Parts: sequence; structure tokens; C-alpha cells
Amino acid sequence: MKTDLNLSSRPRRNRKNAPIRSMLAETHLSHEHLVYPVFFEAGDRNQETSIKTLPGISRFSESSLLQEIENCLKLNIQSFALFPKIDDSLKNSMASEALNENGLVPRMIKKIKQTFPEAILFSDIALDPFSSDGHDGLVRGNEILNDETVQILAEMSVVHAASGVDYVSPSDMMDGRIGFIRESLEETGYKNTGIMAYSAKYCSSFYGPFREALDSAPRGGDKKTYQMDFRNIKEALTEVALDIEEGADIVMVKPGLPYLDVIQLIHQNFTTPVAAYNVSGEYAMIKFAAQAGALNEAQAIHETLTSFRRAGASAIFTYFAKQWALNQIKSL
Ligand code: PBG
Repeated sequence: MKTDLNLSSRPRRNRKNAPIRSMLAETHLSHEHLVYPVFFEAGDRNQETSIKTLPGISRFSESSLLQEIENCLKLNIQSFALFPKIDDSLKNSMASEALNENGLVPRMIKKIKQTFPEAILFSDIALDPFSSDGHDGLVRGNEILNDETVQILAEMSVVHAASGVDYVSPSDMMDGRIGFIRESLEETGYKNTGIMAYSAKYCSSFYGPFREALDSAPRGGDKKTYQMDFRNIKEALTEVALDIEEGADIVMVKPGLPYLDVIQLIHQNFTTPVAAYNVSGEYAMIKFAAQAGALNEAQAIHETLTSFRRAGASAIFTYFAKQWALNQIKSL
């Protein structure tokens, strides 16, 4: 039997050993690409509450959140997305707590920036944690009101900008909100506050654990009249084009893993940086599979996060940020 094939090309030569593989790697993942979403609630009574469907992730009190941020900074995780759990007694149909200058979010932005000026902060702009209806916009009958909601979101953005946030991050999917928010920020003198737009945010079943963490699930109906239909990809191009035209500094695709095609298409068609949100349900999938012994957790995390970079994401919002950084130290 002839053993040599006399091949003109053997791609395996470039995979011969680790230094060669690393030299030729097309994609790199490092700490600065990761944004850590953090949950917190007012006061210091419950220092750290675990979240059943997000093993390893907690909801922090005000002081323990500062401690957690310090821990992350030491691990070179420098960017954070802030998600408040608002007390039921403060929720109403107008989501008025969203505009409270001394509310939980503005307070924490100020405290974090005072203590750790090097931290990069993204604040979520949507009404769901503040609304007794649990929707991202105001509700009238069966309708989610667009224009009325956008005006509140713009005011909310100015409140966060005044507190010192780096990027306001509208995640509500109302039409025209980026332009209106940009204009409001310019008019109030916050020209250096960025907008990270959740541009292609799909109506997804992968947000389940997040809604448990914040008790923010819609009290009635679903989010299909504003979040995108998962059968669509051209529509994502429309949404992104509008948000960029209206002034978005970063555009996001969310969820992440089932939408890598969308990330790639946007990366190829626009020059604005793209962020990916590796959402709560995706985190839970890996965590519970690892707990069941179905996969090697550290490897699955690294592979997953790297896949976002390969698809073209600059930044990755992920509940794995801190764990990934810890794993890096362990594997040295
Ligand atoms: C709120 C918001 C949601 C998430 C981020 N911002 C939930 C939703 O739209 O219902 C989900 C994040 C996650 O699941 O990790 N507008």
C-alpha cells in the first residue's frame, strides 16, 4: 500500500504545536474585550443574594457591589453594565423612579466613579425594572407607547450622564430613541457621554434568568411588538443603520450565540464597533451542562467568548467575565 499521498497542501502543518498555532491564530480574546453585567439592589441589608438560575452570579448590595468591582478591577476586568433591582414599592405605570436623580442607578454610578475612576460604566436605558407593567416602554391597553417612552428614556439618559456614566445603553427597541437621546445629551452639555445602542435586540427566550434576577418579567403579554423577530436578519441591518445615523457609538446584537450570523453581517457592513451580549440563558446553558458533567466548563467558556471575537464583536457583555479572568490566572 502506498503510504504517501504527495499532497501539495497540508493545513495540519500550521497546527503542529502550540507556539505555531498561537502565532497564526486569527482571533484574540483578552480582558479589555469583556464587559461584566452586575445586578444590585438598594441598601446594605442583603449583602449578596444568589440567583437560582444563574449559578455563581449574585445580586449585590450597594457596598458589596463596590467590593465586587474592586475585585474585578484587580483581575483586569474594567468595564461593567449596571442592572438595578428596584423595590416593588417604587414601581408604577409611569416608571417614574427611572428619573429619580438620587435613585439607585445614579447613586451607584457616582459612588463607583468616585471610588474607581478607571471603571468604564454602561447603564441600561429601558423602563422594565422600574415599571409595574414590566415592559420596556409605557403601556396603554395592549399598546407599548413609542414616542412617549422615548421622551422618558432621553430624560433618564441625561440623569445617568449627569452622574458620570460612560455609555448610556438603550435596550428598549423603541423607534427613534437614539436620535432623541443624542440630541438631549448634546443640549444638556453631555457631549462626551456615549451611546451603546442595543440595535438588534431579539425577542428571545434566553432572557429568563435575567428577569428572575431583577424581577422584571412583563406582567402581561410579551415584547414582540418592539423586540425583533428571530426569523429576521435584514431587519437587523435596518435597525443598525438607523441607530448609527442617529448617533450610536457602539451597536449591539443580543442575544449572542444564536445570532453569530447577525454579528458577522453587521461587522462586515458597518464601521461602527459591534458589541455582543452573551445573555443570561446562554450563561445558564453552559453552567448547568458543566454541573451535569457534560463539558469542561473553563474550555467551553473560552471557546464561546472567542467565537464572538471571530464573528466580529469588539466588546462582549458576559456573566463569564470575572470567571474567565480567574481561569486565565489558574491556567498560567
Ligand atoms: C432590559 C434588558 C433585558 C436584558 C438586558 N436588558 C431583558 C429584556 O429585554 O427582557 C437581558 C439580558 C440577559 O438576559 O442577560 N431591557
